[in-house]
Amino acid sequence: MHIGLIIYSQTGNTRSVAVKIQEKLNSSGHTASIDEITITGSTPAQPGKFKLKHIPDPGSYDALIFGAPVQAFSLNPVMKVYMEQLPDLTAKKVAIYVTKQLPLLQAGGTGSIARMKKACEAKGAHVAGTEIVVWAEKKREETVKKCVDNISKLF
Ligand SMILES: Cc1cc2nc3c(=O)[nH]c(=O)nc-3n(C[C@H](O)[C@H](O)[C@H](O)COP(=O)(O)O)c2cc1C
Repeated sequence: MHIGLIIYSQTGNTRSVAVKIQEKLNSSGHTASIDEITITGSTPAQPGKFKLKHIPDPGSYDALIFGAPVQAFSLNPVMKVYMEQLPDLTAKKVAIYVTKQLPLLQAGGTGSIARMKKACEAKGAHVAGTEIVVWAEKKREETVKKCVDNISKLF
């Protein structure tokens, strides 16, 4: 199965998780590609002050994994804009993860996942699993591994 990891990563955390998922999927016989959304404009991306430059095409893949950071207690604005212009995803299996700094429940992780899930489902996707990685946690390595394992085993 050709699996697209469509991500946005500002400082590299979300990308580092994607690389681990990619390795795991490739080692189990899939072809996994990291396809990063890029923007024009300065970072951190401020709502209304950037444009999407590379817009990954979900149609290029059999299944999809979306990953993004939480920013300002909400989904990162770049992934927000990308999610708003998603094409039809009928019958595509999707997994979603976010990375965030703060271990608080109210720090935007659940809301960001919910937003991405809703956008994918509105286009007909089947969201098979979601994960939140808290970067500041002492057990970060364990949490990253859990995210990588749980997402990889969906495919
Ligand atoms: C502008 C900005 C806002 C952020 N806001 C939050 C936040 O509201 N809650 C949180 O838990 N982490 C927040 N973070 C931390 C990031 O979510 C976290 O470091 C994430 O793993 C970064 O992913 P990336 O390296 O892929 O960009 C923020 C980071 C930045 C740069």
